[in-house]
Amino acid sequence: MTDMVDKFGSNEGGEFGVAPSGPRRSFPIELLPKTSKISDGRVSIGGVDLGWLAHEVGTPFFVYDEEHIRSVMRRLKRSFVGEVAYASKAFLCRELARIVDEEGLFLDVATQGEIFVALSAGFPASRMIFHGNNKSSEELRFALEAGVGRVVVDSFDELDRLDTLAFGPVRVWIRVTPGVEAHTHEYVMTGQEDSKFGFSFNSGAAERAIKRVLDSSNLVLVGLHCHIGSQILRLESYRAAIEVMAVLVRRYELAELNIGGGLGVPYVGGEEAPSLEEWVSELGRYAEQAGIPGAVRLHIEPGRSIVAQAAVTVYRAGTIKRLEGIRTYVSVDGGMSDNPRPVLYGSGYDTLLVERAEDVATEIFCISGKHCESGDILVREALLPADLAVGELIGTPVTGAYGYSMASNYNKVLRPPVVFVKDGKHRVVVRRESLDDLLRLE
Ligand code: LLP
Repeated sequence: MTDMVDKFGSNEGGEFGVAPSGPRRSFPIELLPKTSKISDGRVSIGGVDLGWLAHEVGTPFFVYDEEHIRSVMRRLKRSFVGEVAYASKAFLCRELARIVDEEGLFLDVATQGEIFVALSAGFPASRMIFHGNNKSSEELRFALEAGVGRVVVDSFDELDRLDTLAFGPVRVWIRVTPGVEAHTHEYVMTGQEDSKFGFSFNSGAAERAIKRVLDSSNLVLVGLHCHIGSQILRLESYRAAIEVMAVLVRRYELAELNIGGGLGVPYVGGEEAPSLEEWVSELGRYAEQAGIPGAVRLHIEPGRSIVAQAAVTVYRAGTIKRLEGIRTYVSVDGGMSDNPRPVLYGSGYDTLLVERAEDVATEIFCISGKHCESGDILVREALLPADLAVGELIGTPVTGAYGYSMASNYNKVLRPPVVFVKDGKHRVVVRRESLDDLLRLE
């Protein structure tokens, strides 16, 4: 069976990650959130047993370890010389916005909706950084009225629009495309010349945008921004971008430089990623080497590396179909509606039985969702105990980023609840959708 386990790992970073090869005696605990424990085969997070939680809230559900999120934020703040923003697109709800606020981070928002949710949680607009390659006039007006801290201008059209709408000084950053190809999946690569984002450095557009802002009486150029991509596993990708940005920061004597987010995380056992500390220390080093003056305030805005590993999705196995000589399909009660990443990017995930995590895993199963298409596969080759039975709880760790935030109602499947756990207690921070919710907009 092991020969089936070598093709579908996490192919992020432009490479196929290493999928587990069986038999496996213990699950790689490092993929689980910080406070996870496995005792007698039962997985708990934040002191809450996941099997028990499944009875309480039903399946599927997302469970987030609050301590994990807070501790990652603290580590970043401690080790990075500049400001840290959380990229809310990775996962946002009011409870999370409150945590980001309490931990003193900035917030990257990219739409009116993200601003609205954060504001409704009491997040101060002054610590919001407003991104987006097509901000509408309505969105810009909303952001200006709320008083967002920085608007990251992405196009000449937006510059004109913003200048017209501004009713006082607006602090802006110019988003620059440094012309750098990060080593990652092409769908999440953003620093290369051929991009819908930002102003190109090489073509001179970035400098024209800078001058345009400098000429404006409303817009105040406080800095520059770049973001070269997501799920980046090789830190050198940042070096070239920072070198390009340094040229402009020095030439125009700018006060702030945002280097974006993008640090990758391991999704499957055996995969490795740089630590948060390595990442920020390399960024600081690259900035220094590129001659960026120490007085320039650096900013970063990671999303995935803060929340991805903080969560596990727990599903219940509903049917098991053994196709002799082909594969065994285990269908669960969710699928591409709660995690579209495998379908979109070919992303790999690891799996474990949350009530039998210490049973030896010897067989490959294909974990499929309940949607009406064959591509609805969550984990193509999951290594699990051979006697896996209908009704058992299957967890997919590292689903905290771009899972719930990209969830849909495809097939009118109800979006799962999001549960935060801490100190032996759980709280549902986003409830499960109801059938009535499906009619709400009609
Ligand atoms: N800053 C900007 C301007 C961004 O566009 C993004 C992500 C981030 C920061 C945060 O990047 P992170 O640290 O999370 O990599 N849906 C894809 C990822 C899309 C990333 C979009 N932008 C996925 O599931 O892999």
